[in-house]
Amino acid sequence: MDEWVLVIDVGGRGGASLARRIRALGVYADWAYVRRKAAADAAPERFQETGFARPMLWDRPPSAVLIIPDARDAQPALRAGVALAVGRALEASYGWTVAEERMVWLAPPDGAAPDQDDGGDETSKRADAGAKTTGSAGAGGAASAHADAACAALKALLFERLGLRGGWTWRAVIERTVEAIRRAYPEGAAVVALSGGVDSAVAAALVHRALGDRLKAVFVDHGLLRSGEREAVQTALAEALGLPLTVVDAGARFLADLSGVVDPEEKRRRIGERFIREFESIAAGLKEARYLVQGTILPDVVESLPTDTGVAVKSHHNVGGLPERLGLALIEPLRPFYKDEVRALGTALGLPPSIVYRQPFPGPGLAVRVIGEVTAAKLEMVRAADRIVREEIEAAGLGTDVWQYFAVLPGVATVGIVDGARVYRETVAVRAVRSVAGDRASWAHLPYAVLERIAERIAREVPGVGRVVYDITSKPPATIEWE
Ligand code: XMP
Repeated sequence: MDEWVLVIDVGGRGGASLARRIRALGVYADWAYVRRKAAADAAPERFQETGFARPMLWDRPPSAVLIIPDARDAQPALRAGVALAVGRALEASYGWTVAEERMVWLAPPDGAAPDQDDGGDETSKRADAGAKTTGSAGAGGAASAHADAACAALKALLFERLGLRGGWTWRAVIERTVEAIRRAYPEGAAVVALSGGVDSAVAAALVHRALGDRLKAVFVDHGLLRSGEREAVQTALAEALGLPLTVVDAGARFLADLSGVVDPEEKRRRIGERFIREFESIAAGLKEARYLVQGTILPDVVESLPTDTGVAVKSHHNVGGLPERLGLALIEPLRPFYKDEVRALGTALGLPPSIVYRQPFPGPGLAVRVIGEVTAAKLEMVRAADRIVREEIEAAGLGTDVWQYFAVLPGVATVGIVDGARVYRETVAVRAVRSVAGDRASWAHLPYAVLERIAERIAREVPGVGRVVYDITSKPPATIEWE
């Protein structure tokens, strides 16, 4: 794996998804974002200040640099200036020389291409090639003929014009990443907080391969997990990685902090704060820890991009504020990848499907599935109902088909009859949705027979529950979680 492509957004957007499409075509691609102002100033050191982090894997120059400009960089002279700045920055910052003919201009991905054919100079010809290749970048629902044409143009650019060969593998990426981590962090211990989710597990597995027992893994059990979750994560990680977990039983402290709290955002805030405190007390016992491993993935990075005004759209921290408070430097080996790529990487690392294909689960856990105040009794109720939902959907063979499925306790007591007497008992809502990325979702048309078994079992087996309803709202307008 010698060749790689660097895609740079110079004020433009869409480089991340373009890099992904290039990887999918077999050529390894990394992505960087540079604020346009920095590029226009042509001051190399400003590149590093503004998000142009050196791609971690590489100690050799990119085989080609694809530049996505800001739509304002329409004129050839401006483009040439930015290209020059990019070239100089690569040279000054990393000692990389990239020949001018291997710096390719692309069009901004929204199709707001600068004037496409404004003369015969090289720069604008390159822009034309790029316009075709990025025309439908990431455009969901684009006509497939258009997508095919864009894909063909991208292939032509990579394989014909740039003469790349392709053929990277996850194995090669793992080897390089492991080497790069060893080089970058030759001493000192690292700590990782596992959440039970796929990202933190894959990040831990990768760093563990590099640092061995210099990595300490911690699992803070907040007592808001699904039934059997902690044991499943513990066993899977220990077996697959030989990575011993320090488990902290913090359920009682989380519950105490949630006492009397009904506002969903306040619940999230208190859970986040408690998490940090638990982690701090563990880290205090790991004095040699200098690094914090986080499973930050590409969409998190994109959401936190600085704009030209220097303000991020959304500041992202998997564990908000933790690195700053503990004075730990971050190791984030999954930054170049999307979720499905992280899953492929996890599989290549030998993680079991039970971890790699785990359904998404909110960080605040069952606390946002008990509407209103969270109590031990309600948690027990929602956990028992949730186990039945999972068992029945999985028994019906629908487990991999449905994106998320779970039980919610809306806190509505409804009337029922037991032994001829009127009783008021809790309602359980069942939620099951199909989705691709979680940003939109449609309610799953589960077979009636499955719904019937779920309802019967919950009403019979979960004490205190007297009614079961099925949520038939899609997202939008509803969200996936109820809080
Ligand atoms: P919504 O409910 O916004 O959820 O449609 C979209 C996806 O995000 C998950 N989710 C969360 N994940 N912390 C998380 O880590 C949270 O506070 C949170 N809220 C929702 C949700 O399960 C779904 O996959």
